[in-house]
Amino acid sequence: MRILAIESSCDETAIALLKTDGRSLFLEKNQVYSQINIHRKFGGVVPEVAARKHLETIIPLLDSSLGRSKLDKIDFLAVTSGPGLITSLLLGITVAQTLAYTSQLPLYPINHLEGHIYSNWLSNKELVKNEKKYWPALILVVSGGHTELILMKGHGDYQRLGQTLDDAAGESFDKIAKFLSLGYPGGSIISQWAKKGNSAAYNFPRPMIDSHDYNFSFSGLKTAVLYALEKKKNINQQDIADIAASFQQAVVEVLIFKTFQAIQQHKVKAIMLAGGVAANQLLKEKFQQKSDSLNLLFFYPRQRFSGDNAAMIAAAAYYHHQQNRKPLQGIKILSLQPQVNWQLIENRI
Ligand code: KG4
Ligand code: ZN
Repeated sequence: MRILAIESSCDETAIALLKTDGRSLFLEKNQVYSQINIHRKFGGVVPEVAARKHLETIIPLLDSSLGRSKLDKIDFLAVTSGPGLITSLLLGITVAQTLAYTSQLPLYPINHLEGHIYSNWLSNKELVKNEKKYWPALILVVSGGHTELILMKGHGDYQRLGQTLDDAAGESFDKIAKFLSLGYPGGSIISQWAKKGNSAAYNFPRPMIDSHDYNFSFSGLKTAVLYALEKKKNINQQDIADIAASFQQAVVEVLIFKTFQAIQQHKVKAIMLAGGVAANQLLKEKFQQKSDSLNLLFFYPRQRFSGDNAAMIAAAAYYHHQQNRKPLQGIKILSLQPQVNWQLIENRI
C-alpha cells in the first residue's frame, strides 16, 4: 500500500510517499521545503508570504517526490486540512483535491495534531508492531500553535485532558527569542543558549502548577522574562544564556508536572511527546528520567519527524484506512474545506 501525503499548514511545504505492508512503515520519499529563511527577517510567519511560497514550491516538490512512480501506483492520498493558517492550508488542499479528483483516488483529510502524534509511529518500530501494549497512552502535544495533553485509547480515540489557555509552549520560546533579539524560530536557538546558562539564575514563575487541572498558561512566564530584562540596564552574553536556561527550565518543569500529574488519575501504559517542541533535549531527558522512575515506556519522535512534515500525515492516514474510516471520494473530494481550528477531539470522521 502506498500513500501520498501533503502538508502545508504553516511555513513548511511537505510531501511524502509512505509504503506499508501493515507490519512496518517505510518512507519512500519525505521532502520538506522550509520557508524559515524567508520568515526569519519578519521575526515570525507572515501568512500571505507563506501562501505565495507554498504556491511556488508545491508543484516542483510534487514532481520531484513522485519521480517515475506515477499516481497509478498510489492507493490513496492524504492532506492536512487543519488546524493551521487558512491561506497555507488552502494550497495543500487544492493540490490534493485536484490530484484525487482527476485520478479518482480516495482522499483522507488529516488533523495536523493527529499527524504529530503519528510521528511517534514513524520513529518507533516497536509501536507499529505492538501498539496495543501501549494504550492508553498519554500524549503531550507541544508545537508552535498548540499545547495539549491527550489521552489516546486507540487509533482515532482521543480525549483532551487539558490545553494552553493562552500561548503555546513553542510560541513562548519564539517570543522570548524575539525579546532577546536572537532570531526565529526561537525553540532551537533558546535551547542552544540555555546550554551555556545557569537554569537557577532566575526564579521565573511556573504558571498554573497549582491549578489542579491539566491546563497550561505561558503568557505570565513571558511577561516575567520581559520584566527581568527591563530591570537589567546592560545585558551581556552570560545574562542571555542564564535567562534562556531559566526560562527553559520553567517551561519544562510545568510540562513535566502537568503530564505526570495526569498519570495519577489516568492509568496509562506509555507517555509520548509530539510536535516541534519535542525536539527539545532537556524536555526529552526529563521525560525519560521520570518515565523510567515510574516504569512507563516513553516514546518521542526522531528529530526529522518532530517538526512539520508530510510523513506523519501519511502515517495518520494509513491508520484511518486500517480502521475502515471513510475517505472522501468522487464529488465529495471537492467539498473539502480548510478547518482552521479543527479540534483533535472532533476527529472522528
Ligand atoms: O510542530 P511545529 O514544527 O509547527 C507547528 O505545528 O507549530 O513546531 C514549531 C515550534 C516552534 O515554536 C519552535 O520554536 C519549536 O517548535 N521548537 C522548539 C525546539 N525546536 C523547535 N522548542 C523548544 N526546543 C526546541 N529544540
Ligand atoms: Zn506542527
